[in-house]
Amino acid sequence: MSNIEAIRDKYLQQIGSAVDGDALEAIRLAALGKKGEISLLLKTLGQMTPEERQEQGPKINGTRQNVADALAARKEAMETAALDAKLATEKLDLTLPAPATPKGSIHPVSQVMDELAEIFADLGFSVATGPEIEDDWHNFTALNIPETHPARAMHDTFYFPQTDEGGMPKLLRTHTSPVQIRTMMDVAKQTDGAGEPIYLIAPGRTYRSDSDATHTPMFHQVEGLVIDKGIHMGHLKWTLETFIRAFFERDDIELRLRPSYFPFTEPSAEVDVGFSVEKGRRIIGGDPHGGVDGVGGGWMEILGSGMVHPNVIRNCGLDPDVWQGFAFGCGIDRLAMLKYGMDDLRAFFDGDLRWADHYGFDALDVPTLSGGVGA
Ligand code: PHE
Repeated sequence: MSNIEAIRDKYLQQIGSAVDGDALEAIRLAALGKKGEISLLLKTLGQMTPEERQEQGPKINGTRQNVADALAARKEAMETAALDAKLATEKLDLTLPAPATPKGSIHPVSQVMDELAEIFADLGFSVATGPEIEDDWHNFTALNIPETHPARAMHDTFYFPQTDEGGMPKLLRTHTSPVQIRTMMDVAKQTDGAGEPIYLIAPGRTYRSDSDATHTPMFHQVEGLVIDKGIHMGHLKWTLETFIRAFFERDDIELRLRPSYFPFTEPSAEVDVGFSVEKGRRIIGGDPHGGVDGVGGGWMEILGSGMVHPNVIRNCGLDPDVWQGFAFGCGIDRLAMLKYGMDDLRAFFDGDLRWADHYGFDALDVPTLSGGVGA
C-alpha cells in the first residue's frame, strides 16, 4: 500500500470512529486544514516532474475528495442521530388524557332567558331591552301608577339622590314594564303617531327593596307586550298557554286567570299554572284538582297580565281607539326554579361555583314550539 493510500485509510478510519462534531473538526484540520497532512501533500505537486505529477496528482486529489466526502457524510449521520435521539425523548403520547381545563357554565337565568327568546321568536316576538336605571316617569307615571301607589314608597324602591334641580328622580327600575313605554313611544315617534303593531318580550334585571328566601333585591323579569288592532283577552290567554306549555315542555298544563288589579292594565288578571303531585313532588302540569296519583294538586301564581290601559297607550302618543293590546310580566328566576328544581333564590346570586357547576348548562339546549329540548 502506497503512502497516500495509508494516509487516506488512516483518516477514513478516524472519521469512522469520531464520537462528535468536535472530533470531526479536529480530523478535518489535521487532514485538510491549511497545514493539514493532505493539504501539504497537495503542495508537493508543484515540485514534481510532470510525469510524477501526472501519477500523484489524481491520487492525492482523490484522497482529499474521499476524506472531505467522508467528513460530510459522518457529520450528516451525526446530525440525524442527534435529531432522532431528541425526537425519541420528546415523543408525545397522544393516549394520555389532556389536563383538565376549567369550564364555565351557563347560569340557569341566562338559560331561561335564551329559552324565552327562542319560544317567543317562534311566535313572531322580538326581544327589546331598556335601561336598569330608569326615571320616575317611565317606571311609574307613564304606566298610570298614581302618586299614592305603595310601589312608589321610599322603602320599596331604590331611588338615587336627586342631583339636578327640577330633573326627574332616577331609580332602579322595579319592573320591566317601562320597556313597554319606551317601545310604544319609539313607535309613535317613528310613525308620526300613526302607530304600528308591536310584538315583543323584554327580559332583564329589576330591583326592589326586598330580601328573604324567595325575594332578592335584584331579580329578573320578562315583560311581554302586544299592540295591534282588535287584540283581546283570548289572544292573551292563548299566548300564555302556548308559552307556558313550550317552556315546561308539557301539553297538559292548565292555566287559570284570576281577576286582579294593575294600574297599567284593564282588565287585569293574575295567572296561575296548575300543578299536580307525583311521588310526593309538585310538578307543573297534570290535573290540578287531583294530582297525577290522585293526591294533592293545585294552582301556583306565576305572572301578572292584562289588557294595556288606554291611558298608557295615550301617554305614549298612540290612539287607544285604534290600538289595543295585552301585556304580561313574569319572574324569570321563579320560572327557572320551577323548571330546574332549585329551592333557594338567594343561591342564584351567591356566585358559588359549586352551585353553578351543578345547576349550570353546558350548551344552549333551547326548547322550541316544535318540540322539546334541543329540537
Ligand atoms: N309589572 C308588573 C309587576 O312587576 C307585572 C305586569 C306586567 C302586570 C304587565 C301586568 C302587565 O308586578
